[in-house]
Amino acid sequence: MSAPYVIEAAGIDVFYGASQILFGVDLAVSQGQTMALLGRNGAGKSTTMKAIAGLAPPRRGFVKVLGQETTKRKPYHIARIGLGFVPEDRQVFPDHSVEDNLLIAQKPGPDGRDEWSVERIYEAFPLLTPLRHRLAGRLSGGEQQMLAIARMLMGNPSVLLLDEPSEGLAPIIVQRIGAFIRTLRETGVTILIAEQNMHFCLSLASDATVIDKGQIVFRGTIAELKANDDVRQRYLAL
Ligand SMILES: Nc1ncnc2c1ncn2[C@@H]1O[C@H](COP(=O)(O)OP(=O)(O)O)[C@@H](O)[C@H]1O
Ligand SMILES: [Mg+2]
Repeated sequence: MSAPYVIEAAGIDVFYGASQILFGVDLAVSQGQTMALLGRNGAGKSTTMKAIAGLAPPRRGFVKVLGQETTKRKPYHIARIGLGFVPEDRQVFPDHSVEDNLLIAQKPGPDGRDEWSVERIYEAFPLLTPLRHRLAGRLSGGEQQMLAIARMLMGNPSVLLLDEPSEGLAPIIVQRIGAFIRTLRETGVTILIAEQNMHFCLSLASDATVIDKGQIVFRGTIAELKANDDVRQRYLAL
């Protein structure tokens, strides 16, 4: 089958030193799809994302991003193809203002697209507007998560990898991040979102892949996962 996959990982094995972390992981995300990558802490979600973003190159198998083989490519090269990655630790510049964090990240997308400006970010994330002159290091966890997503958008990516965007945030902030991801989805971008929390993904993702001990153990729609008590009990913390 030759669906236009935007992310394709096929049979990837990833090692950290001598320890193997991923075992033949297959993951395919189509154009415009929002895919949840679910699994318990330590299952291999972040490693899968790092493999796709070029930070943990696989020893076996291949990765393609937007149709280009990227298996051994450097992270900056993969970013330039159009992949935006918000890692677990968010990585904002703590000693710079919110606005400087955004401006530093501004660059056109791979096809010259420049739909995101600072003004559009403030429209999309009104909560950031009054914080524009605040040092990023002084923001709350939720505000930093929004800034991290906003920074990534300033590079006009067409594929987004979000690693546990709800982690450690208060429920009200989780709702806001969720609402924002829904609006992003409507712009037609392709999203892969890693989460331990299936409930957070129910209204965001169309499809779900579950990983456990470095292996894919379930693939289906998010509704099928919700209805599958066995998989949820076995592989997801509830
Ligand atoms: N830099 C590293 N060096 C060695 N082992 C690591 C490293 N990062 C993660 N691991 C191990 O790899 C496994 C998968 O981790 P990770 O991909 O971060 O899982 P998840 O994101 O699902 O919580 C875990 O057993 C973790 O301890
Ligand atoms: Mg992780």
